[in-house]
Amino acid sequence: MNILALSGSLRAASINSALLRAAARLAPPGMTVTVFDGLAHLSLFNPDLDSDPPAAVAHFRSRVADADALLIASPEYAHGITGVMKNALDWLVSFEPFAHKPVAVLNASPRAIMPMRRCAKSCAPWPPSSSNRPPSRSRWWAPDSTRRA
Ligand SMILES: Cc1cc2nc3c(=O)[nH]c(=O)nc-3n(C[C@H](O)[C@H](O)[C@H](O)COP(=O)(O)O)c2cc1C
Repeated sequence: MNILALSGSLRAASINSALLRAAARLAPPGMTVTVFDGLAHLSLFNPDLDSDPPAAVAHFRSRVADADALLIASPEYAHGITGVMKNALDWLVSFEPFAHKPVAVLNASPRAIMPMRRCAKSCAPWPPSSSNRPPSRSRWWAPDSTRRA
């Protein structure tokens, strides 16, 4: 199984990127986790370019198409996922091979649960069904995690 890992942080010392690199190192036999390092090169999403995207976007989309699943980790910036991750997902919205791609989200900080939940919702096929609806808030919180107001 070939998994493409996406970090929403461009920081060299990003703990989310480090988490994904750890996942790559710990991947069991038969599974390859590759951390994609090209999100910084994606231009800002423009629907006018969706059908004939810039080369960096075409490359990103081909890597997504080739992957069996995506693994996403993003920090919380201003109560949402980062602009880097939002921009990447915007480029995938109308990209057909992404439509039913399995996606897992994880985060290095429990405070980022809500944005990541929204991120998972964005990744779910449309229209939502009981099988692809993101877990309810309570299922995302570990029993010992700190609740946010
Ligand atoms: C511009 C900016 C906005 C942030 N906004 C939030 C926020 O709304 N909520 C929060 O809990 N942390 C916020 N943080 C803290 C980051 O989410 C936190 O430092 C995170 O661990 C960074 O992830 P990284 O190490 O993968 O880069 C913000 C950080 C920055 C730089």
